[in-house]
Amino acid sequence: MRLQGKTAVITGGGRGLGEAMAKLFTENGARVITCDMAESRSGYENEEFYQLNVTDPQACKAFTEYAVERYRKIDILVNNAGITKDGMTRKMTDEMWNAVIAVNLTGIFNLTRFIGPHMEDSGGGSIILISSVVGEYGNIGQVNYAATKAGVIGMAKSWAKEFARKGVPVRCNVIAPGYIMTDILKTVPQELLDKFAAATMLGRLGQPEEIAQAALFLASDDASYITGTVLSVNGGMRL
Ligand SMILES: NC(=O)c1ccc[n+]([C@@H]2O[C@H](COP(=O)([O-])OP(=O)(O)OC[C@H]3O[C@@H](n4cnc5c(N)ncnc54)[C@H](O)[C@@H]3O)[C@@H](O)[C@H]2O)c1
Repeated sequence: MRLQGKTAVITGGGRGLGEAMAKLFTENGARVITCDMAESRSGYENEEFYQLNVTDPQACKAFTEYAVERYRKIDILVNNAGITKDGMTRKMTDEMWNAVIAVNLTGIFNLTRFIGPHMEDSGGGSIILISSVVGEYGNIGQVNYAATKAGVIGMAKSWAKEFARKGVPVRCNVIAPGYIMTDILKTVPQELLDKFAAATMLGRLGQPEEIAQAALFLASDDASYITGTVLSVNGGMRL
């Protein structure tokens, strides 16, 4: 019960990594508000579903007001919602570029600009941003995605400084997952997935629960002296 009494917001928690986090966080005593633009799925005990598109700044503001009113304090924010729109640079359209920036980068700003200051004013908190092995090493056909996933590392390091500058323990860290079996990999050919698995030291792709365990650690007080850091959870992979 490492999150007993805490309230967590998880974006993109409708499925995949975010759902695994919602499950593990609630099992560890947290109340979880799962924000996703998709329709609600059946929830876990102590989980509330809130339909939110993180690209909408006004909706993010309204959500924060609602959550603070209802739960008084938000202790944990996991900025997990993310999309891919892959293509070689010569074929990448403005739409592909802008859509990925809007969700993966601006979407994180839209929510953290309200919840970060709330944590600062209410005694502390833990903010987690989900990057990717692609943000650390780059990848062919993913310049838009790589830009956002590298960008969130700069955002997290900036917020780790900014939100803690008055001595309030607001921590901000990044998880950079390797290739994890979720719907986001649906469009990646099996041949390429096999290649990625072979490129890890552990010789396999990851499971959503393995990212959720890393998030649980960073969200919990066990990580009380960890901020401004990137935790790579990728089986020892270098792209
Ligand atoms: N699975 C992987 O291999 C992997 C690797 C590295 C990083 N990541 C990152 O982890 C995060 C989660 O990925 P996943 O594999 O669970 O993906 P997923 O596609 O299975 O789930 C993403 C969720 O985000 C939601 N979402 C998308 N756009 C949204 C928006 N505008 N507002 C609110 N919700 C939105 C979707 O509805 C979906 O439920 C993403 O940021 C992704 O880039 C995933």
